[in-house]
Amino acid sequence: MEIIVTKNYDEMSQVAADIFRKHLEKQPKTVLGLATGSTPIGMYQKLVEYHKAGLDFSQVTSFNLDEYIGLAGDHPASYRYFMEEQLFGLVNINPENIFIPNGAAEDPEAECRDYEKRLRAAGGIDLQVLGIGTNGHIGFNEPGTPFDTTTHVVELTASTREANARFFDSIDEVPTHAISMGIKSIMKARRIVLLASGENKAEAIAQAVKGPITPGLPASVLQLHPNVQFIIDEAAGRLL
Ligand code: F6R
Repeated sequence: MEIIVTKNYDEMSQVAADIFRKHLEKQPKTVLGLATGSTPIGMYQKLVEYHKAGLDFSQVTSFNLDEYIGLAGDHPASYRYFMEEQLFGLVNINPENIFIPNGAAEDPEAECRDYEKRLRAAGGIDLQVLGIGTNGHIGFNEPGTPFDTTTHVVELTASTREANARFFDSIDEVPTHAISMGIKSIMKARRIVLLASGENKAEAIAQAVKGPITPGLPASVLQLHPNVQFIIDEAAGRLL
């Protein structure tokens, strides 16, 4: 595990965007694993700038980590909508190569199985970006999720629903369930970059890096991954 501590959020985003840019320049036909949330927004903005300067996304396939159950892709709080606004609508990625779990699927369990199949058929993820929850979750794999889970339906914890309520009119509107790529699916990515910014992530980062490897802190599993970088700002790295 390599840990890169940056001065602030902007520098974290720059370092991360440069990793993605270099990867895409070297391997234009690639499979990216993407995250939503506040953390990767700065990186996506910089990638959009790189695209305007010529960075090509036409051969990229992407898989997102998760989606709320019950929200269709045109709901402003859905992760599909977020991705369209932050990245997909602003670069030349082929819409046919964009994969996000369908939160409106009639049978979410079948959707999980299909998603995992699509992931396998694409050859797995070359480069995955992750954020981290204040409780150490990755994707929506909440504390207690076994390490051998593939894409699955999750019940969101109260703390995650509260943390994400800012994207909804009220906490009652935050879905109670989501579809998430599992920890096993994430760990198969050939390279992983985890981003974290801000004081409120410091405890989770310290546990993920130095704590015991335990499902109680899902991100701690990354200690077992052969090619992972944590790019965190000073505030998130305060307890290291
Ligand atoms: C989002 C995701 C989550 C977030 C995490 C941090 O696709 O998988 O694990 O990365 O909840 O969210 P932010 O970045 O909003 O602090």
